[in-house]
Amino acid sequence: MFRMIILGIETSCDETSVALVADGRRILKNIVLSQVKYHAPYGGVVPELASRKHLEKILYLIDDALSTCPPDRIDGIAVTVGPGLMGSLLVGLMFAKTLSWVWKKPLLGANHLEAHVYAVFLEHPYLSPPFVCLLASGGHTELFLFKEHGSFELLGSTRDDAAGEAFDKVARVLGLPYPGGPAIDELSNKGDPYAFEFPYPLEEGLDFSFSGIKTAVKLFWEEKKGKVKIEDVAASFQRKVVEVLLDKLTKAASLKGVNKLVLSGGVVANSFLRRKLEELKEKGFEVFYPSPPLCTDNAAMVAAYGYHELLRGRIAPLTITVKPDLEIGEDFLSS
Ligand code: KG4
Ligand code: ZN
Repeated sequence: MFRMIILGIETSCDETSVALVADGRRILKNIVLSQVKYHAPYGGVVPELASRKHLEKILYLIDDALSTCPPDRIDGIAVTVGPGLMGSLLVGLMFAKTLSWVWKKPLLGANHLEAHVYAVFLEHPYLSPPFVCLLASGGHTELFLFKEHGSFELLGSTRDDAAGEAFDKVARVLGLPYPGGPAIDELSNKGDPYAFEFPYPLEEGLDFSFSGIKTAVKLFWEEKKGKVKIEDVAASFQRKVVEVLLDKLTKAASLKGVNKLVLSGGVVANSFLRRKLEELKEKGFEVFYPSPPLCTDNAAMVAAYGYHELLRGRIAPLTITVKPDLEIGEDFLSS
């Protein structure tokens, strides 16, 4: 028998998602509706289109979730308050507030970046902090220390493009479809990851920079197109991004004196990265990352985050607003 069931709502970018999670670790339902087909013709997420699509779909998703669990069994409504697209966040928050008001259930906020880590808790319930986290997605590349629930220390982030954004931009340069990550991943399987050497910008410290690698690939491709295999270019770019991500992650771990590594975000679905993570395990690191469907945006991670908010008595007031620029470690209840 479950003690606490949380309904999660996630609409920060281009996935509309509603989930039910029991006791912060058991997924009862996780419905994720991707909008990618609507944004693909534009080569990226169109904010106005994203909020309109969330508005069209969210009620059906909530209805679907309620067929699994009626409102009187639900103990709280968790929702992403930031960061993300203003209009998209507003749709989720307005629905969450309404349900909280009508059903008289506590409203629980979630920081989307921190919530990605909770996707890992869902599959590894006995994972215990402290550990170093890497979030690598289309909008973010963040390195942080998870000290305990509710306590995070930002260690590094990108100075320009996010890792996923670099995949998307390089894919466009190579004439591959959007989103670029999966396309490059697939093409790279037929290429040599060590065929070419692209630069490692900002090698010092824990901040990232990906726009230099992207520009290097662009210039290289403009000069060598037709003379080199596209698979080798894709695989070499992918290998370099993975090398950079893991170099900074392991550096951060040794700096903080921990050997537990947790990864999440869309880029962590990358098959080359996942192979390299298995090698890190052989080198003695404890490494945790979600299965591919939980790497990308989903409401189950938001519900799991909300469960811990409820445990700590952090109920959000109905006056809470969206926070499009929310940062890791920033308290969305007091700001
Ligand atoms: O976490 P996510 O679904 O959305 C946010 O940005 O919050 O991440 C999407 C990003 C995109 O840039 C996409 O190209 C990238 O993750 N991605 C991948 C792979 N699958 C998705 N990047 C590399 N390899 C993949 N297999
Ligand atoms: Zn995300």
